[in-house]
Amino acid sequence: MHSFLRFPGSRARLSPVVIGGNPSPVSPRTQTLKDVTILEMFDLRLEFADRTTQVVVRTNVLRDVGTLIREALADAVPPLVVVFTDDRVGPLYNDTVRDALNRAGLASISHQVPAGEVSKNLAVAEDIYRTLADREVSRDAVILALGGGVVSDLAGFVAATWMRGVRFVICPTTLEADLDASVGGKTAINIPGGKNLVGAFHQPVLVAVDPTCLKTLDMRDVRAGLAESVKHALIASPDFLDWHEDNVERIIALDQAVLTELIRRNLEIKGDVVTRDAKEQADVRVMLNLGHTIGHAIEECCGYAMRHGECVSLGLLAACRLSHSMGLLAGPVVSRVEGLLKRFGLPTMLADPIDTGRILATIRKDKKVQQRESRFVLLEDVGRPIIRGNVGEPAIRQAYESLLR
Ligand SMILES: NC(=O)c1ccc[n+]([C@@H]2O[C@H](COP(=O)([O-])OP(=O)(O)OC[C@H]3O[C@@H](n4cnc5c(N)ncnc54)[C@H](O)[C@@H]3O)[C@@H](O)[C@H]2O)c1
Ligand SMILES: [Zn+2]
Repeated sequence: MHSFLRFPGSRARLSPVVIGGNPSPVSPRTQTLKDVTILEMFDLRLEFADRTTQVVVRTNVLRDVGTLIREALADAVPPLVVVFTDDRVGPLYNDTVRDALNRAGLASISHQVPAGEVSKNLAVAEDIYRTLADREVSRDAVILALGGGVVSDLAGFVAATWMRGVRFVICPTTLEADLDASVGGKTAINIPGGKNLVGAFHQPVLVAVDPTCLKTLDMRDVRAGLAESVKHALIASPDFLDWHEDNVERIIALDQAVLTELIRRNLEIKGDVVTRDAKEQADVRVMLNLGHTIGHAIEECCGYAMRHGECVSLGLLAACRLSHSMGLLAGPVVSRVEGLLKRFGLPTMLADPIDTGRILATIRKDKKVQQRESRFVLLEDVGRPIIRGNVGEPAIRQAYESLLR
């Protein structure tokens, strides 16, 4: 099923639910629309040392989320579910989720935060802790994140810390969260000193992905999520990169079958990586940071004015150019990546240039906080990421400044 993955010895249990079709894998390169419609729903079980995450991807799954929680937890006494969402997603989907919980016999309360990266901070987390205390939310409660990566990072951080950890469920509603942020258990908030500097690993018990939620998402956010998909293809799968190129128009048109396939392949890649190195200790998970060193610096320095995925797009291109300038990656691969990002409508140039000195200082600070020598994830080819220490600042400067011309 996942022979295209580069990493051997996967511990991810990948068990696609196949409706009315042939469960044997199809060659990604020769895949046609007919083939991809075979998989309109699937599930994965990701097994970690201390927890199993059940991932269910299904049209309209929000309507069944109460039943899925009951099945995943098997509590004798139905737990209270605290739903966290933001003020854009809440009006769209909160009632559906609360109704589904109610029908499954689960009492719930909900809490809304302002939409956007501005909410991923300690002040908002503190406000949430106050609400949990006021409502006397106990250790057996479940925290459910309904929203994009901001809501799942924030609610996940609260779930990891409230009463030293309560169970966590995610209903992702952005492409970014569907194919990346919802799996792997990284939770975080930002502080003035940097992005994601405060956080914890806390694996969700259930991730329920409803691809139809993408229909209400701004196209800007759909495109942003695609940057992480390109990243996954670049680190793990030449076939998947081909597949992106073959399906750009269908993806942008939000063809549900193609989107489901896109999400499946991403979750297989990410699931494989994170189950083999859950806490980023074995030089495996770190590969997911491709494009994120310069990307995060841009994101921080622009004051979060751009989407995370847009910064990742710029960071990916810079990392590819850096790899090329160090003699690792062939020029045509760099052009190919740039071409694909452009076809997805992702930025390949920085519209509002940020001073190079600030970018380099931010990268230096992040390295210092991590107490590591300068370690960059670079590419030797599609599907062949490597970690390089001591990448010189002139080369980083040149790669970043290539985004300004
Ligand atoms: N934990 C991880 O492993 C991980 C991985 C990748 C990204 N992230 C984090 O995720 C965050 C970015 O996530 P994001 O791009 O999902 O941003 P986001 O959560 O801010 O969502 C983007 C915007 O879309 C709105 N929205 C969400 N779903 C919608 C829907 N279905 N219809 C209409 N509007 C909708 C939101 O209200 C928000 O305004 C960053 O903070 C990033 O660091 C975390
Ligand atoms: Zn990212």
